[in-house]
Amino acid sequence: MHPEFVDILCCPDTQEQLKLEAGEVMDSGMVYSGELVSITGNRYPIIRGIPRFVSQEFYATSFGYEWKRWPRVQFESENIGRPMEGHTTRMWESITLAGESHVRNKKIVEFGCGPGRFLDVVRRKGGQAIGLDMSAAVEVARNNFLDDADVLIVQGDIFKPPFKLSIFDGGYTIGVLHHTPDPSKGLKAMLGTIKTGGWAACVVYPDEGFYSYLSVRRVRKMTNGLKPLMGYYPALYYSIISAYVISPLIAFGKRYKRLGRFFDQLTERWIVSLYWLPDVRWRLLDTFDAITPEIASTHSGEEVNRWMKEAGCIDIKTANWGKTSMVGVKS
Ligand SMILES: C[S@@+](CC[C@H](N)C(=O)[O-])C[C@H]1O[C@@H](n2cnc3c(N)ncnc32)[C@H](O)[C@@H]1O
Repeated sequence: MHPEFVDILCCPDTQEQLKLEAGEVMDSGMVYSGELVSITGNRYPIIRGIPRFVSQEFYATSFGYEWKRWPRVQFESENIGRPMEGHTTRMWESITLAGESHVRNKKIVEFGCGPGRFLDVVRRKGGQAIGLDMSAAVEVARNNFLDDADVLIVQGDIFKPPFKLSIFDGGYTIGVLHHTPDPSKGLKAMLGTIKTGGWAACVVYPDEGFYSYLSVRRVRKMTNGLKPLMGYYPALYYSIISAYVISPLIAFGKRYKRLGRFFDQLTERWIVSLYWLPDVRWRLLDTFDAITPEIASTHSGEEVNRWMKEAGCIDIKTANWGKTSMVGVKS
């Protein structure tokens, strides 16, 4: 971490200012190890350049595994000249509706950053990017932005953010809150860190569509049941077979009307297939992502709108990534 970021951090329990006791400092000026200490003596280690406010992944272990296995597949730079080129940037723009002036030279936070594909979008648009995640994804994110002094990666819990109140110019959370036990509380916590007049964006799994399919719920239950015995191997092999064999077959079959209807039934009820994603690496990652989380809820647009209101947003509107994608302004 760059030492200047100490100014935005605080003790997640007491909200006290933290003092940096640096250990190893890199030639680039980045702090590699040390501690952050509050006035009343709470201590938080900095390990491999990452301030740590939790010491476990809790219910997010599948994501630690996932992002270590596929650290950059969804980064824009990995997709140049490939079928998903531009997708990550378009997705971020459609979800946040943030223009240049909302990002350039601003401090932008992401709650649940994973390996940081969207932090990368913020950086390319000239913003300072701050990413919070609870899982081992933080190791991957830090590697993805090694010497970038304008990126801070923090390991912490959305429900107890280690950030000062009203400190960020904007914030977003993409595909995260439905993996927590209380999405509305998570959104409120994020809004607490955003300045009055700052922008906020949120998207969660919708009630209709792929993530609510019976097939997805069935396979997720099976892989979570097998996890204590076999780890993530069943989910991994399932995802490989689905991405490389089943999805291409289904995509082919969809060309024929009656066969297409049969395959719709099959994917909704029995087999998880992302036949519409044209890049096999994305199909593999996203299949694994759909069938492994311990918590995965689905929601309506009305719910997300209510969470935004309860979190203190005004000017709430549906963004361009489905009914459960919303933006607002902190009041
Ligand atoms: C599906 S991934 C999305 C990552 C990123 N937003 C993206 O779309 O590329 C969800 C992320 O949320 C993180 N997460 C889940 N619960 C969390 C919590 N309570 N606090 C912080 N991060 C959490 C997971 O570790 C995981 O990296």
